Amino acid sequence: MNDNEAQALISQEFLQSIAADRGIRPAELEVLSLSLSGISTTAIASQLDISEDLVRKRLSRIYIKFQIEGRGPVKFAKLQQLLHNLYQTHLASEREPKIGVMDTGLTDNNSDLQITTHPLNPLHNSLPTSSTTHNSPILNRIDWSEAIDVSIFYGRAEELAQLEQWIVQDSSRLIAVVGLGGIGKTALITKLKQQIQPYFDCVIGRSLHNAPPLENLLADLLKSLSHPQEPELSEKADEIIVQLISYLRACRCLLVLDDVQTILRSNDLYGRYLQGYEGYGALFRRIAEEQHQSCLVLSSQEKLREIFLLENPSRPIHSLKLEGLKPEDAQQILLGQNLTGKQSWQELIQHYRGNPLELKLIAATIQDIFNRDVAAFVKWSTTVSYREILDEPFQRLSALEKQVMQWLAKEEKALSFQQLRAKIEEIATSDLIEALESLRGRYLIEKVKTQDTNELLFTLQPVIKKYVTKYHLPSAQKI
Ligand SMILES: Nc1ncnc2c1ncn2[C@@H]1O[C@H](COP(=O)(O)OP(=O)(O)O)[C@@H](O)[C@H]1O
Ligand SMILES: [Mg+2]
Repeated sequence: MNDNEAQALISQEFLQSIAADRGIRPAELEVLSLSLSGISTTAIASQLDISEDLVRKRLSRIYIKFQIEGRGPVKFAKLQQLLHNLYQTHLASEREPKIGVMDTGLTDNNSDLQITTHPLNPLHNSLPTSSTTHNSPILNRIDWSEAIDVSIFYGRAEELAQLEQWIVQDSSRLIAVVGLGGIGKTALITKLKQQIQPYFDCVIGRSLHNAPPLENLLADLLKSLSHPQEPELSEKADEIIVQLISYLRACRCLLVLDDVQTILRSNDLYGRYLQGYEGYGALFRRIAEEQHQSCLVLSSQEKLREIFLLENPSRPIHSLKLEGLKPEDAQQILLGQNLTGKQSWQELIQHYRGNPLELKLIAATIQDIFNRDVAAFVKWSTTVSYREILDEPFQRLSALEKQVMQWLAKEEKALSFQQLRAKIEEIATSDLIEALESLRGRYLIEKVKTQDTNELLFTLQPVIKKYVTKYHLPSAQKI
């Protein structure tokens, strides 16, 4: 497609309406329009009687508003392609009967025809029409419940860069940030939101810590998306998901759902939904598979099966397993608590695997009981474990998983699969494999390799070992 063809394909009226939706100013639209008709930067500058530099500046603002990344001429080609695609979608929607949003039942990989209303106006045309959406209430809307304070935030530059790459540059549709309680998921996604919100028309964050039924969450999300208008909610969750996805197509939204583990089942293997909450799985799958321009970010203490199954380097679905803070960043936490005995800081950080919540808690104990001296505490070679972090994930374990945890806690050394198999004789080998996999899916067991034979061994990190020993072993077996 050359420049002239692109311009011929896109009507001026459509260009105006999409420019209004993206907050493009009239002066920028003028430059866009001339560029699309194939006129050079020099010619545009002379035609508009402005400097070439200003033409380039206006173009770069346009790229930002369309979230076009890249360099030089590639950017313009991408913009042309994007406009062309949006225009084709718009024409397709014009050809369809205007009966509101319809679910074709397709998982859309190749068909624009699924969108049955104006792509910028998804819900029964209940939003202002695109030509009047310059001040559309949906643009630049931030609705973040229970925001946490991240004014003190150390490290995580690589994780933030990776997430930004997936979400902003690669336009991923579903991302999960997973890891143990206290490892910093909520803090990280809050920081991420601050960093990438300019790329989105709206940003909505919710915590699932009260395990809301899917219908309630969907109603809440749609309410926020259609604010200040009241959404016309369908009766069935399936239909509301269709409505939601229409919004996700029309606007670039960042949706964040924190603490997804609360809707997962107890006494079962990892990542299975509570009874009555299976619809969440369908929601995540549809958001991952259908075509739209938004992104859903989830945080969970357990690996999520949808993501695990759908993840593939070529798909816009990713998960980030969050490890503890790097030693130099974890040190900042101890520094912030005015601790002394620096020669023992590394040992303490390694013992708690850089988990910022555990480090904050142990730092408070060291302040209180050891007069701020980390060395005085480390000398005792003891571990303090925290029920507030581990009770909840432990309760979700299946009976067999609990048994495996208990065996691993009792042993001083890490155990191979064979050794573990010998200890828990009464169960089928396949059940033991499932239990180990499930515990890995909850990030509760560590894998290590022997140096000499390269054999794989399983063990618990000290805090978890202490927790199991203290609270889940008969007292005679406690270490
Ligand atoms: N990068 C960080 N720098 C400083 N403090 C952090 C960092 N990440 C987390 N924390 C702190 O550690 C605690 C646990 O973090 P949080 O994000 O709530 O963990 P999670 O959501 O994984 O359970 C919070 O008090 C938080 O402020
Ligand atoms: Mg959290």
